[in-house]
Amino acid sequence: MDPADIQLHRLYDDLAYLWPLVSPPEDYADEARYWREILRDKLGPGCHAILELGVGGGHHLSHLTADFEATAVDLSEQMLRHSRRLNPGVEHLVGDMRTIRLGRKFRAVLIHDAISHMQTEDDLKAAFATAAAHLEPGGVFITSPDHFRDTFQDPLVDSSTRSDGETELTFIEYSYDPDPGDTTIETILFYLIRRRGELRIEWDRLLTGLFPRQRWLDLMAEAGFQVEERPGRPVDIRWQPSLLVGTLSKNAD
Ligand SMILES: C[S@@+](CC[C@H](N)C(=O)[O-])C[C@H]1O[C@@H](n2cnc3c(N)ncnc32)[C@H](O)[C@@H]1O
Repeated sequence: MDPADIQLHRLYDDLAYLWPLVSPPEDYADEARYWREILRDKLGPGCHAILELGVGGGHHLSHLTADFEATAVDLSEQMLRHSRRLNPGVEHLVGDMRTIRLGRKFRAVLIHDAISHMQTEDDLKAAFATAAAHLEPGGVFITSPDHFRDTFQDPLVDSSTRSDGETELTFIEYSYDPDPGDTTIETILFYLIRRRGELRIEWDRLLTGLFPRQRWLDLMAEAGFQVEERPGRPVDIRWQPSLLVGTLSKNAD
């Protein structure tokens, strides 16, 4: 089968119901603690207003809602349904991180792993512009690239088996770079779903962005941020290359 014939992004559509078994909320606790420390360090005490773009199932955000007043945006209504259930006090909106304009400013904007869905430099620029447009002067933008082109290992393979008592999911991911000349990589996903003794197999494909580390730093700076690179964290089988923390100029309007 030609990978191009595999349907794209079912994980955020008809297979979104599996998200809590693909990547459960508890897996984000350590990472969210790290983000909270950075937010506290930058913003000081208080229940600051924060915006997460590409919130997905809200698993990462669920560890921050006790400390901050959050608003959440995602392209997928199916994914937002998980986040609404998990984060009932949060305002949820359907929207594209490249174009949405809420007409409101926040103390911080977060784009967690959803930033990997920016497939071109223009996408990345647009997402950074959205972050800047929603920040008060001196506000903080945090984002976490999954990979840099400089260090991406091809192929990257991961698997897990998890159960919620009714459904057991074995999830296999295979990420590779079919064309090193462009700015995307492809991930083929297999889902082996066992319910009441019956096994069903589904698959889909994700296209995500891959950019050199220096392009991330340059494009964030061009969007008006003073950028700091913080050490990355372990995620599944790999290390996140780094966390990028941008502070918007105090003179920005
Ligand atoms: C891996 S999931 C995020 C999971 C999330 N970190 C969590 O804790 O549950 C990636 C999300 O990015 C969203 N997404 C992809 N492109 C987007 C865009 N242009 N604007 C907003 N959301 C987008 C997808 O709909 C998906 O929900």
